[in-house]
Amino acid sequence: MKVRKPLVAGNWKMNGDIASNEQLFTALRAAPERVPAAQVEVVVCPPYPYLGQAAAWLGDTGVAWGAQDVSAHPNGAHTGEVSASMLADLGCRWVVIGHSERRQAGETDEQVAAKLARCAAHEIGVIACVGETLAEREAGATETVLARQLDAIASTLLAGGASAAPGRFVLAYEPVWAIGTGRTASPDTAQAAHRFLRERLAVRGYRESGYVRILYGGSVKANNAAALFAMPDVDGGLIGGASLVADEFLDICRAAALA
Ligand code: 13P
Repeated sequence: MKVRKPLVAGNWKMNGDIASNEQLFTALRAAPERVPAAQVEVVVCPPYPYLGQAAAWLGDTGVAWGAQDVSAHPNGAHTGEVSASMLADLGCRWVVIGHSERRQAGETDEQVAAKLARCAAHEIGVIACVGETLAEREAGATETVLARQLDAIASTLLAGGASAAPGRFVLAYEPVWAIGTGRTASPDTAQAAHRFLRERLAVRGYRESGYVRILYGGSVKANNAAALFAMPDVDGGLIGGASLVADEFLDICRAAALA
């Protein structure tokens, strides 16, 4: 059993409809029989229009639900955006920020930091994503990129922006080359990046770095989850494609519970 309680989050991305969501929610409702809540925290992040459906199906279960993004602004003229206060109104407890699919669409480190501050102001937990592209890895720039992305987040944490008890601030290492490609980072590669991130948080002065959960994301499947989660600094996973297949996702959650 690990010091940090593992967390597995499903990022559904822009997938789902009312009927297929219902099937997934039904399977998740049965999760306690397969995945002990005492040993793993489970979160699912459907698209915005289905958050109410998630609340209705999961509200009385141990499975939490969250959003895939949030506005960096508190309110105002930002057509199409959703604020942290709106998510809090809905009972949302988690938000993914800084996903590479948002960074590739132009999101900056500063915006990710602002999103963290918005979430903290409303006591919403964050899963903050960092990760290098293939070109950056091949150029030997992995640690430089991770440090830059993490430092923006750490500054907000240290500025008190995260009332974020360590349990409500989660990092996710998601190497871009592993997302949706079927090419998973090896457990050693993931461990090296996770250790680097944890040490960097400590060097930056974040005293609770030892309690922060760092998830691995990028082509995690039921058949590779256990080896990844066995690494000392891998505290669970952020799961894309496999989170849309109930059995696969629950097997991944179970692997985390047993790690
Ligand atoms: P895949 O698990 O589909 O590679 O996606 C990972 C991811 O981006 C989760 O946020």
